[in-house]
Amino acid sequence: MEVVIAQDAEEIGRLVTDAIETLVGHVPDAVLGLATGSSPLVIYAEVARRVQAGRFSLARCRGFTLDEYVGLPPKHPELYRTVIEREMVVPTDIRTEYVQSPDGGAVDLVAACAAYEAAMVDAGGVDLQILGIGTDGHVGFNEPGSSLGSRTRVKTLTEQTRRDNARFFGGDLSAVPTQAVTQGIGTILDSRHLVLVAMGAAKAEAVHHLVEGPISAMWPATALQLHPHVTVLVDEEAGGRLQWGRYYREAFEAKPDWQGL
Ligand code: F6R
Repeated sequence: MEVVIAQDAEEIGRLVTDAIETLVGHVPDAVLGLATGSSPLVIYAEVARRVQAGRFSLARCRGFTLDEYVGLPPKHPELYRTVIEREMVVPTDIRTEYVQSPDGGAVDLVAACAAYEAAMVDAGGVDLQILGIGTDGHVGFNEPGSSLGSRTRVKTLTEQTRRDNARFFGGDLSAVPTQAVTQGIGTILDSRHLVLVAMGAAKAEAVHHLVEGPISAMWPATALQLHPHVTVLVDEEAGGRLQWGRYYREAFEAKPDWQGL
């Protein structure tokens, strides 16, 4: 696991976009794993800026979103599909029909989850998966106690997650769905490169567990320690509880440029 302590969110956005640009340079039809929430927005903004400047194109790429609320009406502004359309599809040249999302509105959610897993396999798997982390240590919506081998399925959100996300719903906790369809931890670990980003002091405890804690279903993000290619990018605040922070900085500074993330 590589840990990058960046100066600010903008540097995180630039570094992750560098990795996407390099990937797409080698693999123009790369498969991107797209998280939602506030953390990846700085990445999507930088990707959009470079695509609009003609530096690279996502026209042949495919995308799979990480999770989706259950029970929100179609076109709801906080439906994760709507968010990805707004933040990634519209401002770049990735084609909307090439981006798939779990169907949180399906009548048969179990079948929809199985179909989503199959679609990811059909696409050849995800090349680069962008992830955020919840204050309770979730990735995707794999809340504490999630099986570390889990696949796409319905999960009930913790009250902490619903409180954290109430800001997207005008501060109204009752408006935040109680369930979501999420890729499982096992699904996420199938991606070839995992890129997790975290900003702000509220994430410091979860980031500490993710990087330095023992692997435990009670901090689901710790399962990433099992993956051979993980990059964790944090700002100073989110990295504020890392015990080996100095070493992570030294290692990143010593890294040759050609290696990328
Ligand atoms: C979003 C997702 C969640 C978020 C996490 C952090 O698709 O799967 O795991 O990444 O809740 O959210 P933010 O970035 O809003 O703090």
